[in-house]
Amino acid sequence: MAGLIEPHGGKLVNRIATGNARDALIKEAESLPRIDLSTKQSCDVEMIGIGAFSPLIGFMGKADFDGVVSGMKLADGNIWPLPITLSVDKANAPAASSRVALFAPNGTLQAVMTVNEVYPHDRDAEAKIFFGGAEDDGKHPGAEAVKAEGDTCLGGPIEVVNVCVDPEGPEAFLDFRLTPSQTRAEFEKRGWKTVSAFQTRNPIHRAHEYLCKCAQEITDGLLIHPLVGETKPGDIPADVRMNCYQKLITEYFVPATTMLSVMPAAMRYAGPREAILHSLIRKNYGVTHFIVGRDHAGVGSYYGTYDAQDIFNELDHDNLKIRPLKFEHAAFSKKAQGMVSGKTFPKIEGDQIFLSGTKVREMLGRGERPPGEFTRPEVADILIEWATNA
Ligand code: ADX
Repeated sequence: MAGLIEPHGGKLVNRIATGNARDALIKEAESLPRIDLSTKQSCDVEMIGIGAFSPLIGFMGKADFDGVVSGMKLADGNIWPLPITLSVDKANAPAASSRVALFAPNGTLQAVMTVNEVYPHDRDAEAKIFFGGAEDDGKHPGAEAVKAEGDTCLGGPIEVVNVCVDPEGPEAFLDFRLTPSQTRAEFEKRGWKTVSAFQTRNPIHRAHEYLCKCAQEITDGLLIHPLVGETKPGDIPADVRMNCYQKLITEYFVPATTMLSVMPAAMRYAGPREAILHSLIRKNYGVTHFIVGRDHAGVGSYYGTYDAQDIFNELDHDNLKIRPLKFEHAAFSKKAQGMVSGKTFPKIEGDQIFLSGTKVREMLGRGERPPGEFTRPEVADILIEWATNA
């Protein structure tokens, strides 16, 4: 892998058991205590297994949890912004030094874990991460999810026996589910030395497309890397989005500089801290430049528009290595007849085409295409089809 950016922590983790080792784990799991994972936990198992969360080899112990919550660092000193925990209710917690079988929400055995540590889950401390400067109003999806989790955390390494637990499910996208070692191999094959990545949990609208194209101008290639793990109710389902991405790429992108692959993490809506997590994940996939636009991974009005960019200024770049590509709020300008931002074009009252998410939803639900300056017609048609049949 000479030439590509190093994985976070220096070595790409692989916790996927194969062959006889896998068979032995499946046999062992029959007699182990069973833990039923939440969707988020199941997504985390896949992320750890494939090395997307390198250097993590399992769920965090207490030293990592404390270091991450208070100072965005793992116990080994590597930057890490959000806890990756396996929490359960105390009554169901196994003893430390035991092995447990982890089952995905659909009942499939996903992994076997060695529980090295059992410790209290400081849910209040973890939930505080999500508020930015805002108050806890009981509505933040990420914070509420943490508050509803178990009061006890299990820390220790995992060995994965089934990576994608629902291969028949509509959100599996097996043809596009490349692991970090597979994207790295593909970048090498394509001769890409610098690679930008675009994280998204939405269909790609014109502003997103503009960011992608700017990145393509300055790096060898672009990885369009939508998050397809758990998202909150109200977000557009991943299978609908995948249809949009594929159509858009066919019609409006160049194959030589564009790659589409999915990223199976759960969304946490943690704004700035999640922007860091998203960049470290992409570093593991072999990406050198990570797009961070307005209110990255934000929700509601918990974060300032550019908090997720500013947080990168606080980080040790020798450890981070992947470079954030920061973009101001972009929109179509009628006067300029193209996409602009505050950095590239004067602000003129009423000049930019801006539509709120709610407004777009209403239009799609009525079978109306939003203007072509906001979203490409081919994307609008897929969304209309979904919105009017949902
Ligand atoms: S996110 O949760 O994945 O951040 P979304 O899919 O909307 O949500 O955004 C994907 C990326 O595009 C993020 O980096 C976000 O900051 C950026 N972005 C979204 N809309 C705009 C915009 N109008 N101008 C600039 N950046 C934007």
